[in-house]
Amino acid sequence: MERTFAIIKPDAVAARHTGRIIQRIEEAGFQIRAMRMRHLSKAEAEGFYAVHRERPFFPSLTTFMSSGPSVVMALEAPDAIRKWRTLMGATDPAKADAGTLRKEFGRSIENNATHGSDAPETAAFELGYFFPGIDLIG
Ligand code: CMP
Repeated sequence: MERTFAIIKPDAVAARHTGRIIQRIEEAGFQIRAMRMRHLSKAEAEGFYAVHRERPFFPSLTTFMSSGPSVVMALEAPDAIRKWRTLMGATDPAKADAGTLRKEFGRSIENNATHGSDAPETAAFELGYFFPGIDLIG
């Protein structure tokens, strides 16, 4: 079993897609091990995306991610990191495969509906960032 960290981003929550995205997560075979709704502060978004701080889109990304509530989750499945990234699809919804969450619910490369960890190290950081003190890393 592996755990990964997922976000339903503010664009998808505002568009009332939360329920449908959670249904897709469960139908894909993930166990949701932790979940909460959070309206991130700008500073929290900056800390979360610190790895991107030199990128030109960093100010806009962190403003967007603090623009409204998100749903943050710990997902568990065999090969969860890869499996969740496959279900999300490419970062840019325009390039995402048919049937993926970003193709269906994303509006732009920034407003792309969902986030997922890209490696075990980032999953450990991201799970700990939002679920501190919870022993999620198996
Ligand atoms: P996410 O998977 O959350 O990881 C970093 C985020 O930065 C990404 O999804 C997008 O929302 C955003 N992002 C990545 N590349 C760009 C880009 N070229 N322009 C704007 N936003 C981007």
